[in-house]
Amino acid sequence: MRVHIADHPLITHKLTVLRDKSTSSPVFRQLTEELMTLLAYEATRDVRVAECEIETPVMVTNGVKIADPKPLVVPILRAGLGMLEGMTKLVPTAEVGFVGIVRDETTFKPSTYAERLPDDLAGRQCFVLDPMLATGGSLAAAIKFLFDRGATDVTAVCLLGTPEGVQALEALVGDRNVNLVLGAMDDGLNEKGYIVPGLGDAGDRLYGTV
Ligand code: URA
Repeated sequence: MRVHIADHPLITHKLTVLRDKSTSSPVFRQLTEELMTLLAYEATRDVRVAECEIETPVMVTNGVKIADPKPLVVPILRAGLGMLEGMTKLVPTAEVGFVGIVRDETTFKPSTYAERLPDDLAGRQCFVLDPMLATGGSLAAAIKFLFDRGATDVTAVCLLGTPEGVQALEALVGDRNVNLVLGAMDDGLNEKGYIVPGLGDAGDRLYGTV
């Protein structure tokens, strides 16, 4: 698994405001979207393109366009939804699938409660969105879901990650073709499974349920 940790002052600035507990839900949503757009730039570095010919007002020339099959973006419900718009703004021709994974608050074990994905994922570049890579359980479950559906090329994008989460993903993916893009690598997890220093419960902060 290739891990890329963003290193850009705009990303660090926006993450700092996002972490602040006094940041309101509307601002949190806006920042999550903006951060995703910045991370999407990194995550799509190897997006497949096909050469094409176009005519400018001046002459015929060659360029590239995003190749078929189009990338598939898969936000993990619910908090991943907050990142979707930031990704589709940058890649508007991407298709969107959904996986719903809930984490038991005492055992931290993930289970899938919803999914809507194309039947065949062979040859698709899949981008999984989940703001918090904590224990890695939810993201690992979602990536396994995609592998079981034939995916061979998965990029996961998270705002924050932990060394524990990265290790858990590494154990799952082995030598499969998986990229992980993080906005920042945090210190670890507290006894309640929250990322520290983190930003709290991303879903609650996005959707105002705090
Ligand atoms: N999920 C969250 O939303 N926040 C954490 O800190 C860990 C998991």
